[in-house]
Amino acid sequence: MTQTPAKRLYIKTYGCQMNVYDSERMADVLRPLGYAMTDEAEGADLVVLNTCHIREKATEKVYSELGQIRLMKQRKAEGGGRMTIAVAGCVAQAEGQEILRRQPAVDLVVGPQAYHQLPELIARAHRASGERLSADFAPEEKFDALAGSRQVKGVTAFLTVQEGCDKFCTFCVVPYTRGGEYSRPAGKILDEARQLADQGVREVTLLGQNVNAYDGCDGGLASLARQLAKIPGLDRIRYTTSHPRDMDEALIAAHGELPQLMPYLHLPVQSGSDRILKAMNRGHTADTYLTLIEKIRAARPDIAMSGDFIVGFPGERDSDFEATMNLVRQVQHAGAFSFKYSRRPGTPASAMPGQVADEVKDERLARLNALLNEQQQAFNDSQVGRVLPILFERVGRHAGQLIGRSPYLQSVHVTAPAGLMGQIAQVRIDSAARQSLAGTLVEESVLA
Ligand code: 5AD
Ligand code: SF4
Repeated sequence: MTQTPAKRLYIKTYGCQMNVYDSERMADVLRPLGYAMTDEAEGADLVVLNTCHIREKATEKVYSELGQIRLMKQRKAEGGGRMTIAVAGCVAQAEGQEILRRQPAVDLVVGPQAYHQLPELIARAHRASGERLSADFAPEEKFDALAGSRQVKGVTAFLTVQEGCDKFCTFCVVPYTRGGEYSRPAGKILDEARQLADQGVREVTLLGQNVNAYDGCDGGLASLARQLAKIPGLDRIRYTTSHPRDMDEALIAAHGELPQLMPYLHLPVQSGSDRILKAMNRGHTADTYLTLIEKIRAARPDIAMSGDFIVGFPGERDSDFEATMNLVRQVQHAGAFSFKYSRRPGTPASAMPGQVADEVKDERLARLNALLNEQQQAFNDSQVGRVLPILFERVGRHAGQLIGRSPYLQSVHVTAPAGLMGQIAQVRIDSAARQSLAGTLVEESVLA
């Protein structure tokens, strides 16, 4: 019997971890159709760009990549082959038909809620008939259709528990591209988590645009985390991204009580100025944020804090920016992401007066980054001499080296036997750079 050669699938993922998760699930639904992943777009039978719309740069990258892929499609056609090009993700949701107009080589556009329809959309594109677009919202259908048959390779995995956002921060496209808040039922999440644990996953990161708004079971995210913690083999639980408004008492308490809940929290504040926070429609002040951090640290004193910041939001004066710098100094971050405000069409802030000049944004971003980098280095330095449990995830560049993660999400480079891959071992931290730590195995832990 001759076997049909696998069709080659290339997926390029932009943006957030939700997209990384979605890309894996797209590969899952396409596998039964004979598609196997390849690392090269050139020559692939199906190219999927899973896109990000959050800032203008991210969107523009997609169009320039499509320009390259169009040429690959031409080359393949000259050799008698066929390449199908699909645009998925938030640009697909937001721009829809516009993509097909700007880049006619694109065969289909599929929004984040319609990935389960991919096989059908591809078949339709091949017949070159009818609708080339599917960008409507029905998250429940999506998750039901994607359930089961998940294949993972590593010891860490993402697990989407919630999608969408009802917060409508005035700068942000997510409520428009991902739709309203939707939580998957806890039973389905627990099933998926058990499947992951059976495949050797030791750490799950629960994903959601507003993950701590999760309400797929009584007791919300705290209760979900407690149920997940009971699954044998799942030693570590993380979640991202949270909103300060949804950081409830139960979740804070869980950080103090659940050893599986890792002491690392990504809790974006965006700005330290109350005037700007109001214009952003964040629903919290600098003070309420700082009080929240105090409570969280009371429950879990060693928690590592991370966040997102935007500089140059419309109307941001020097004094507002200084308020952000002040807040950063008070929180002391283990890491953070900072962005220049990017004007997104259709969002309220894009029409606000007082748009800030790019040079001013650049200067503020550089100062903020310098401070955040300093804090990250200081946090890493503070771990030197400590013994931390490290989950080994991948091999390092040097012979005999493994790379793992600390509870605080730091990368740790260690000389260790290959057999420790996928295991948690005690490591003494010897040195710290800004992006990673180096350490030595504590011998007893290898025997344990
Ligand atoms: N401009 C700059 N940064 C933005 N973010 C979201 N929208 C914008 C925008 N229009 C940032 C926020 C958010 C992160 C995912 O991206 O900080 O938390
Ligand atoms: Fe965007 Fe705000 Fe929702 Fe986060 S909370 S996804 S920044 S609207």
